[in-house]
Amino acid sequence: MVKITIDGREFEAKEKAKVLDVARAHNIQIQTLCGHESVSPYGNCRLCLVEITTKDGKNRLVPSCISAVDDGMVVKTNSEKVIAERKVSIQRLMARAPQSEAIKDIAKKYGVDSTPFPLEDHRNCVLCSLCIRVCAEIVGANAISKINRSTEPGALPYTVNFEACIACGSCVFICPTNAIKLADEGDTRTISWPYQKKEFKMAKCTNCGRYWAPLQQVENLAKKSGQPMSYFDKCMECRG
Ligand code: SF4
Ligand code: FES
Repeated sequence: MVKITIDGREFEAKEKAKVLDVARAHNIQIQTLCGHESVSPYGNCRLCLVEITTKDGKNRLVPSCISAVDDGMVVKTNSEKVIAERKVSIQRLMARAPQSEAIKDIAKKYGVDSTPFPLEDHRNCVLCSLCIRVCAEIVGANAISKINRSTEPGALPYTVNFEACIACGSCVFICPTNAIKLADEGDTRTISWPYQKKEFKMAKCTNCGRYWAPLQQVENLAKKSGQPMSYFDKCMECRG
């Protein structure tokens, strides 16, 4: 265990624990965007910056989601330095997704109303990689990758491999800026990523007739569980 101080309060923390996790465990809130508890941290948005001073007196700003605690570390989550640099991070995100309501809300909270950075605009995507991480780490489909990714204005923020995608919608759920849309209509699920779109067929329940899950997701389930496709011919409700 190590001892650290956050905003004037002393805490014990496990070695190698991330500053953000320790702060949260003690109800100290730090602004985040590219972080989510279900996937590994990435350190991309730099909203979670905190000011740290180590035992040897070194002082710097670090993203708290990827920075480990150290014995004797003093952390400030809301110092003038932190707020000033967080505003710059917000301005960067504003350039990436100028239309995003989520980014506008964060900007408003910190009194930021313009950005000096050149506009990139990736159709609401801030290139946070949460969709890539959830698809790889939780779903295991690895359908979204950084192939052809570019920060050029209007360029593709990532590539979706339609063969690997099982249309589960986890990327839609986790995206913090609502850049990915999902619509179910009849026997078809449509997922729209920035600059990429795909229609997926849905599986029909043999009992109630409802389209209950994407066919590719059911096939994936059958493959992973070793059960035949007929095992999944009813929706969850009809299976009881
Ligand atoms: S689509 Fe959403 S989750 Fe994926 S990188 Fe862009 S902002 Fe992040
Ligand atoms: S939440 Fe830490 S850098 Fe984005």
